[in-house]
Amino acid sequence: MKETTKENVLKLLSEHNSNFVSGQEIADTLYITRAGIWKAVNALRKDGYNIEAVTNKGYRLRLEKDILSLEGVQRNLDKDGIEIKVNVYDEVASTNDLAKEYAVSHSDDIVMIANYQTKGRGRRGRSFFSPKGCGLYISFLLHPKTDIEKATQATCMAAVAVCKAIEKLTGKDVKIKWVNDIFLDGKKICGILTEGATSLEDGSLSYMVIGIGINLYIPKDGFPDEIKNIAGVLFPEGELEEDMKNRLSAGIIRELTNLLGSGDIDDYLEDYRSRSMLIGNYVKILNGGTVSGGYGKVEGIDDECHLIVRRDNGEVEALSSGEVSVVRY
Ligand code: BTN
Repeated sequence: MKETTKENVLKLLSEHNSNFVSGQEIADTLYITRAGIWKAVNALRKDGYNIEAVTNKGYRLRLEKDILSLEGVQRNLDKDGIEIKVNVYDEVASTNDLAKEYAVSHSDDIVMIANYQTKGRGRRGRSFFSPKGCGLYISFLLHPKTDIEKATQATCMAAVAVCKAIEKLTGKDVKIKWVNDIFLDGKKICGILTEGATSLEDGSLSYMVIGIGINLYIPKDGFPDEIKNIAGVLFPEGELEEDMKNRLSAGIIRELTNLLGSGDIDDYLEDYRSRSMLIGNYVKILNGGTVSGGYGKVEGIDDECHLIVRRDNGEVEALSSGEVSVVRY
């Protein structure tokens, strides 16, 4: 077939940005027959382009290999008998905000998953860089019947769940930096933000939202300056596999649901400790603790997921929140 016909079909489809273009429109614009379109589409497919053909809709060029969809997440969850409701979005402001809005008028648990966020939020009021197509943004809205102290452990469970899902799917060796950042090869690839609401009547936990943001692929324009030295991605090699976002979402839902349901706290703590980047390291305490600042050696993680630090003056402190950075000599 004429090379130009193939190129023209490709150009027309890519101008429509992953939207369908009818066969009629292609035929009228490029002055070719239906059979000519079909030949061009098949030739492009042979070149590796992912072109969908749907009756009554036409053709569309899938620009990404790894496409997040509700159908895909459910397909990967089905065999596990997991019942939690899942919603999937292309663009949202923040999946955590969406989950909190849902909580206002619903009492069931739900998982909100998005392809990108325009106002992704991180810990300590920071924003969370959530560009289109490069990451996975997941929030669990949960109504645990437990006290707040125990519920905060769900954050650490989420870190374990993400690690397990990643390890099972990719075989990559990920580590947890207390409390809940996940690192691959020394770079942060995932952050977790847990939020909750308490009842004014008795101070009990009304609901909690666990928000997980994972950097999957290198953003087209790279990471912003503020995070470019610390941020990394799970797949620096690019989109090699289809369905990864769906499989990873389903994997995280499966692992976290199992951990929350098992009630076996010791099991999860061992999993958390064995992936810790900090145990045995000398750290700077950036904030948190009774005295802000200072240095100490991390001796372990206790059963409440506190970081046990022996300060330079010999005092041992259990940090329940805050941030530390590993001191490198
Ligand atoms: C951090 O590293 O500071 C925590 C980042 C948490 C980001 C996730 S992405 C999904 C959810 N929605 C948000 O707005 N934030 C969390």
